[in-house]
Amino acid sequence: MEFSFYLPTKIEFGCKAIWKTGDLAKEAGAQKILLIADKGIVSTQIYSDVKTSLEQAELQVFEFNQIVANPRIKDCEAGAEFAMDKQIDFLVAVGGGSSMDTGKAIAGMLGHHTTDFSVIQYPKEYTNDSYPLICIPTTAGTGSEVSICGVVTDEETKTKVFCFDPKCHARIAICDPEVLMGLPNKIAAATALDALTHAIEGFVAKCTNPITESYGIRAIKLISENIRDYVFNRNIQNCEAIMLGSLFAGISFGYSDTCAVHSLSETIGGEYDTPHGVANAIFLANVTEYSIAGAVDKYAEIARAMGIFKQGTKRELCKELVRELKQLVKDLDIPKFSEIPKVNKDDFERLAQKCAVHLSAADNPKAIGYEEFLNILTKTYEE
Ligand SMILES: [Fe+2]
Repeated sequence: MEFSFYLPTKIEFGCKAIWKTGDLAKEAGAQKILLIADKGIVSTQIYSDVKTSLEQAELQVFEFNQIVANPRIKDCEAGAEFAMDKQIDFLVAVGGGSSMDTGKAIAGMLGHHTTDFSVIQYPKEYTNDSYPLICIPTTAGTGSEVSICGVVTDEETKTKVFCFDPKCHARIAICDPEVLMGLPNKIAAATALDALTHAIEGFVAKCTNPITESYGIRAIKLISENIRDYVFNRNIQNCEAIMLGSLFAGISFGYSDTCAVHSLSETIGGEYDTPHGVANAIFLANVTEYSIAGAVDKYAEIARAMGIFKQGTKRELCKELVRELKQLVKDLDIPKFSEIPKVNKDDFERLAQKCAVHLSAADNPKAIGYEEFLNILTKTYEE
């Protein structure tokens, strides 16, 4: 066995940790801050607390909130242009994956003295460091605060593209469980299922290693034990558990890979603008059912981590896992695939082709290609 592992992101975890933002940025040498947030976050107390913390540290703050869900390349490039114009030297991104991924894309472009995303777009490797970035997740799902990847949408091709490089990491992740208390139930459910998908895929991916496996299995336990109460009976203890689960899941997949669930969800998201967590939740059980044969021992371990203690063979345990994943998605009121706006069966052949060449498909524990993706799309639509 051979692997290397280096986590370059400092993690500040705890209630009221967002109030450390100003001091942490100042300690890191910041003077002029680009504060990035989507429009939904800008009107919240969380955003105002982060901004106050930066101002109390006597830092100059420039605000950028030209961000939509499934963020667009052109908006990231506009952010880089704005940052260059203001001579920004440090970035703070507050929000879900959209804000943090936009932050990573802008930080990467600034590091390469460009406002052209194609300069850092995967498979291109970074030649320079990104500008320093603090990520503050306001949902527990994306894990972007600790991964080395940013996902943005190319509007022309309706495809998700990446900046993906060891240099594409946040300098500091501030994880404050209190920020989750006010999340609408629907967003809490979808984002936590995204985190669960990261944990499962980070654990079973072909390229995983003992460290990412350890984070993944611990995340699966934390998330599955708390997810139903977190969505419907929220308190600070289950917020803490889910924030930690999402963070561990981020380290797991962020330093291994996601698998075929994300090939489907990112293809669907690029095509129909479906919220990322919803798209993952829709395909999680059926991709798991397909993939079990490639990693029976691991899926049985996931079943046990999720509290399934059925007597019998590992295969029987795995069957129960699929049943529990279906039940969980149903209990959390995730819509069916056929209920997603704009979804059209006539697109499935084209979507399956896109899935088959998606970056993460190759790391699925059981080989998967066009035919299998087409089957899963059709089966999930007809359920
Ligand atoms: Fe994800």
